[in-house]
Parts: sequence; C-alpha cells; structure tokens
Amino acid sequence: MAQEISDHQYTSESIQAGSRVYVQQCALCHGPQGDTIDGINLRQGQFRTASSDEDLARVISEGAAGGRMPSFELRPEELSGVIAFIRAGFDPEGVAIRIGDPARGKAIYDGKGDCATCHRINGVGSRIAPDLSDIGLIRTPSVLQTSLTNPIATLQPINRQIRLVTRTEEVIIGRRLNEDTYSVQVIDSNEQLRSLIKADLVSYELSSTPVHEPTSLANEEVADLIGYLLTLRGLE
Ligand code: HEC
Ligand code: HEC
Repeated sequence: MAQEISDHQYTSESIQAGSRVYVQQCALCHGPQGDTIDGINLRQGQFRTASSDEDLARVISEGAAGGRMPSFELRPEELSGVIAFIRAGFDPEGVAIRIGDPARGKAIYDGKGDCATCHRINGVGSRIAPDLSDIGLIRTPSVLQTSLTNPIATLQPINRQIRLVTRTEEVIIGRRLNEDTYSVQVIDSNEQLRSLIKADLVSYELSSTPVHEPTSLANEEVADLIGYLLTLRGLE
C-alpha cells in the first residue's frame, strides 16, 4: 500500500527514517515539537523563507541565517526522510504529501493545466467549477492531492454535475449550488446562475462522474500545483 500511493507522497519508511534524523540532528535546536525557534514551527509547516520541499532541502543542505541554522551533509534518503517527517507533521504514522514550487505550480495552473477554463481565483477564470480563491485555507495537502489524482473520492455532493430538462425542452447542464424541496440553483455551462422551480422540470439527472478526470500531469507537476494551491488563502 505504502509503495502504491508513494508516487505523490513519501513512504512511511522514509518518514520513520526522517524521525531518527530529526531526533539526532535537529531536535537540539528546534525542540521535540519543532517550535522552539521564534517564528518557526516545523511540525505545523511554518517556516521563515521556505515553502516547497526543494526550499527545505536547500536550507538543510546549505544552512541559513549566516550559519545560525547550520548546513548538514545528509545522505539523499536522510534528507528526503527528514523533509517527509516535517511534512507528516512529526507523526511517524502520518501521511506526507510532496509539496512543490508555488511559482511553477501557478505556471502549470495558467498554462498546460488549463485550470482556469473551469475554476476561478480572485475573480479571474470561469465559474463552472468551484472557486479556488481560499482553497489553501479549507483543504489539506492530502485532500488537494486526492482532488487531482482521484477526484471521485473527494467529490462534494453539492458539486455534482446535473442535467435538467425544462417543460419548454431546454436542456441545462451545470453545477448544482443549492437545492431545496421546490427549487434548484445551478451555474450553467454559460456560467449563468439559474434558479429553477422543480415543477417546471420534466427531467432531473444527477451525475456522479466528476468533471475532473484524474490528472495526467507528472508527479512533480502535481506537487507544484499543490504548492500553489496552498498559497491561495482568500483575498488578503
Ligand atoms: C544549531 C541549531 C540548529 C540545528 C541543529 C538545526 N537548526 Fe534549523 N534553524 C536554526 C535556526 C536558528 C533557524 C532560523 C534561521 C533564521 O533566522 O532564518 C533555523 C531554521 C530552520 C528552517 C526554516 C528555514 C527557512 O528559511 O524557512 C528549517 C526548515 C530548519 N531549520 C530545519 C532544520 C532541520 C531539518 C534540522 C536538522 C537536520 C535543523 N534545522 C537543525 C537552528 C538549527
Ligand atoms: C473541465 C473542468 C475542470 C478543469 C479543467 C479543472 N477542474 Fe478542478 N474541478 C472541476 C469541478 C467540476 C470540480 C468540483 C467537482 C469535483 O470535485 O469533481 C473540481 C474540483 C477541484 C478541486 C476540489 C475543490 C474543493 O472544493 O475541494 C480542486 C482542488 C481542483 N478542482 C483543482 C483543479 C486544478 C489545479 C486544475 C488544473 C490542473 C483543475 N482543477 C482543472 C472542474 C475542472
């Protein structure tokens, strides 16, 4: 199992190896909970300048702050292990998602990922799919990863695609926003908000197929996208 899902995340072996490195080489300064240095909480993913896993690797290998954070010569598996342990929230049994570079992730979002054809961020993009402006606040890295790699598993009932046919034979396909006994509100494929009285409908079908296909992007690209999505925390 651990091997199977390890493409987008670190293995539990790696996390456990990292916990040993941490105890031996880092805990002295950062403390058992990773929170003894002002403004840094390693367990909770709060750093000074770092955000991606590459940043972490660089800080650990090169040091920072004029050597107050020393440089370490770790073997590659120790280095990725200690990053995995940090990403797992210091829980050796935890899940550690790879987090890539937000700037590259944004480029994928705007470019080959084509995400804005369906999604909207801070007023830019389409309304067909959920607004992602504050997705970094409301979803964890592992849920974001699943949204991209196995969308059916995270599909929210309210986000399901529906197909409606009215008495006047108009077909409306869209995303359900709200529903009560007598009416249903959808964003249709022209991005219009429509409110329909159920008595006026001749057919109402709910689809369980997500509009999202599991992503065909490479693992590093998924990591970069997650890095970018985590920076989306609503309008500042
Ligand atoms: C001798 C004390 C010391 C040890 C040992 C140490 N650190 Fe640090 N570390 C620091 C200090 C001090 C800072 C804050 C540097 C600054 O002011 O930017 C820091 C910062 C960091 C940061 C945040 C960097 C950033 O710019 O965002 C990370 C991540 C980190 N350390 C990881 C580790 C890991 C992993 C280890 C063990 C391999 C480790 N540290 C060992 C003292 C230490
Ligand atoms: C064809 C339209 C479409 C495209 C293109 C698309 N998405 Fe989505 N996405 C959706 C729909 C619809 C949902 C909500 C239903 C679902 O979860 O499948 C969704 C859900 C999501 C969610 C979960 C939202 C939540 O509230 O948890 C994330 C994250 C996401 N998409 C990210 C992306 C990223 C990143 C890209 C580009 C790589 C992308 N999407 C491309 C249609 C799309």
